[in-house]
Amino acid sequence: MMKVRHSRLHAKKWSTYTSVLSMLFMLTVVLLILSGLGIFSLPVNSEGSSPNDLSSHRRIASESDGGGMGKREEQRTEILSWEPRAFLYHNFLSKEECEYLINLAKPHMLKSTVVDSKTGQSKDSRVRTSSGMFLRRGRDRFIREIEKRIADFSFIPVEHGEGLQVLHYEVGQKYEAHFDYFLDEFNTKNGGQRTATLLMYLSDVEEGGETVFPAANMNISSVPWWNELSECGKKGLSLKPKMGNALLFWSTRPDATLDPSSLHGSCPVIRGNKWSATKWMHLGEYKV
Ligand SMILES: *[C@@H]1O[C@H](CO)[C@@H](O)[C@H](O)[C@H]1NC(C)=O
Repeated sequence: MMKVRHSRLHAKKWSTYTSVLSMLFMLTVVLLILSGLGIFSLPVNSEGSSPNDLSSHRRIASESDGGGMGKREEQRTEILSWEPRAFLYHNFLSKEECEYLINLAKPHMLKSTVVDSKTGQSKDSRVRTSSGMFLRRGRDRFIREIEKRIADFSFIPVEHGEGLQVLHYEVGQKYEAHFDYFLDEFNTKNGGQRTATLLMYLSDVEEGGETVFPAANMNISSVPWWNELSECGKKGLSLKPKMGNALLFWSTRPDATLDPSSLHGSCPVIRGNKWSATKWMHLGEYKV
């Protein structure tokens, strides 16, 4: 009797072991299948961050391609408006990148012109009183890194962009409200219409120098920085220049029709001076 009971107990113990072992085996097989399908992955490159933290992916990506000068402060995106479509990227450039762009352009600044809609030639203008220069697309590895970042953020390929234009506005200098898209045949031959603009602020401005969208369809006084705006800045949705920040706005709607709410200008600088860099992007490839 005792013996029977003992062996039954033994058998029970044995079956517990085997069922635990087979469950572990099953679990291993399931995990292997899942990781094979890419549904489950081992935390190989975690660096202590969660897989949903996109900023860490961006950091890893920008470190791995060797570019990027200096250290960028905390990345953050702010939606400014849907009419026009406008987004603010905090700390898009590092301080070193801003200084690099200014120093490259500084010795070559020329009085800014506007494009003549009949001939496509540049001409002097009273509506635009800044000075500026173009930096050839892909000029060096630091420019290439910035241009790649612009493509990543805007989802527009590097090849659709014009060369970066660095601009300098001194006290009293401005750019009156205008569209970045063209209303003529000539200027859309290369790359088609301009679709988006990414404007990078390379310096802070003590007073004035805001980017203003006078036709924005929103409550313009609801921005938290309303009280810091100049008189000109209060004429529309306005953004104060801050070193390293970037403004992305679209001149076309998602169906590629022109968006007149993208009307924008640069308010006169009242105190300090303003440095910025602009990337114009076209619907198609822009040949340089
Ligand atoms: C616009 O925003 C301001 C500040 O938030 C608020 O005081 C005002 O009532 C708003 N105006 C309208 C028309 O919603």
